[in-house]
Amino acid sequence: MNKIFSGIQPTGEIHIGNYVGAIRNWIGLVDDYDCIYSVVDYHAITVDYEADQFQERVLETALNLLACGLDPQKCRIMVQSQVPEHTELAWVFNCVTPIGEVERMTQFKEKSKQHRANINMGLMDYPVLQAADILVYKAGFVPVGEDQVQHVELTREIARKFNSRFQPIFPEPQVILSCAAKILGVDGKSKMSKTLNNYIGLLEAEESIWEKLRTAVTDVKRVRRKDPGCPEDCNIFTMHTAFSPDTMIPELDKGCRRADIGCVDCKKKLFENMTAELGPIRERASALRSQPDYIRDVLKSGAESCRDEAQQTMEEVRSVLGLYR
Ligand code: TYM
Repeated sequence: MNKIFSGIQPTGEIHIGNYVGAIRNWIGLVDDYDCIYSVVDYHAITVDYEADQFQERVLETALNLLACGLDPQKCRIMVQSQVPEHTELAWVFNCVTPIGEVERMTQFKEKSKQHRANINMGLMDYPVLQAADILVYKAGFVPVGEDQVQHVELTREIARKFNSRFQPIFPEPQVILSCAAKILGVDGKSKMSKTLNNYIGLLEAEESIWEKLRTAVTDVKRVRRKDPGCPEDCNIFTMHTAFSPDTMIPELDKGCRRADIGCVDCKKKLFENMTAELGPIRERASALRSQPDYIRDVLKSGAESCRDEAQQTMEEVRSVLGLYR
């Protein structure tokens, strides 16, 4: 069975960009692939964080994944630091990765601007650890949002470098993109993210979601109600493609271009479709809150089963590297 690996940072409550950009895809793949999904805590310590709240953030992220509908009977859900072979392989990959390749990563450049006071080695090495996450399981496919495509390309490059320098033991994994691979924030400018505080939370109360949608930026060139709009320049339209039925999309597209529908009505329809999908997730999340032991058990068995495979890969890696044994 083909293997899939993907990861998410432990931000606690995830946002709808994570959900439609990646997690909904993760759920759809579990019947056809051997899937491993990870809460990547070592990635998250590359920026400042509160150590005493960190475990809670990891557990809350896992709870969110389960609430979305990931079935731990059909896939493995694990915490990255519970399988140390990820970081061990990252060190090996450091030794075949040219510095220039990581310096040019868009996310590294953006994060260096956001965290000027703490541009540490880990921040730069971040995509190398990501390559190790994927390749320690020899995964062939990686379902992610658009912002991670460059990192998966680097993973392929690292696999090629390792394979040609030592022995061809790693696959070159492919990206699987969702139909909503890039959701902008409610500011309509930057990618939706918690750092930029332009997000809609997956478990957010309906009133709060409406308040954010009501004031969200649409096509900036559509100033008056009677101005025709451009759906391709409107983040609300992109969100419709993620949350509304396929049959509604051409109708909204036409309505917007002809100014038959105004932005507020368009937002109301989105709100209805979005909350219809998020309501059951919120309910499952509140049921899971009374089962913290269950969440810990899921993560424990996920890590145990991943450890075996990761250890096998590292044995092979140590052997082809010619390390002392
Ligand atoms: P992270 O935690 O930033 O995001 C998790 C997933 O959500 C997607 N995503 C989005 N998709 C569409 N629109 C958005 N606004 C949006 N924001 C986030 C991301 O593309 C991602 O798929 N480096 C990764 C985590 C990681 C990983 C891995 C992923 C670590 N190791 C190995 C794949 C394979 C990250 O920070 O994702």
